[in-house]
Amino acid sequence: MEHLLTNVKCKTAEQKEAVLKELKNVCSQCKACELCKTRTCTVFSDGSADAKIMLIGEAPGADEDATGTPFVGRAGQLLNTFLEEAGFDRKKDLYICNTIKCRPPQNRVPTNEEKAACQTYLTAQISTVAPKIILLCGSTAANSFINEDFKISQIRGKWLNIFENIEVMAIFHPSYLLRNHSLEQGSPRWLMKKDLENVKKKLDELNSEI
Ligand code: URA
Repeated sequence: MEHLLTNVKCKTAEQKEAVLKELKNVCSQCKACELCKTRTCTVFSDGSADAKIMLIGEAPGADEDATGTPFVGRAGQLLNTFLEEAGFDRKKDLYICNTIKCRPPQNRVPTNEEKAACQTYLTAQISTVAPKIILLCGSTAANSFINEDFKISQIRGKWLNIFENIEVMAIFHPSYLLRNHSLEQGSPRWLMKKDLENVKKKLDELNSEI
C-alpha cells in the first residue's frame, strides 16, 4: 500500500478513481485487526472520487456489511433525506466513507486499536479525494481528528481548524437523529438542517471562487 500513499498527488477525477479503486481492493483483503474475522465484506466508500465534500461516519452497520456500501441502512436513509433537503446530490456532491471499514460485532463503538489499524485507509482517502470540506459525522469520526475532550453537541456546526486548506465541520450522526424526532427550533434535527444549510452555503462560495 505504501506506493499508493506516496503517489496520491493526483489531479483528475479519473486518476483519483483509479487510486481509490486500488486502495479499495487492498482494503478488501485487509487483516490488520480482528474485525476481518466477523465481517461479510469491507465497506470502503460511496459517491464521487472528485467530490468537494467528504463525509466520514463511524463504522458499517448490518446493512452496510451486507452490501459493501456506507450509509444504506435506516441511518443512511435519514442522512439522505437531510442531504437532499439541503440541496445535495449524494452521488455527485459527496464522497462518503467511515472511520473504520469493517462492522464491529453488535455495532459496538470501534476500539482505538481498530481505528489505528484502519487509519492508513482513511488518510489515503482524504489525500486522494482532496476534498475542500470534511464533515465528521458523529463523535467517533470527530474523535479521530480532535484530541481534546468534547461533546458533539458543543462542537457541531462550527468550522474547525484541523487541516490547512480543508474546512472541517462536525455534525450529528443520523443514528442519534433516529432517536430524536422533534423538529422544534434548537432540536438535534433542526440543528442538523441548519448545519447542512451552512455547508451548502460554503460549497456554493467555494464553487464561485473557481
Ligand atoms: N453508521 C455509520 O457511521 N456508517 C455507516 O456506514 C452506517 C451507519
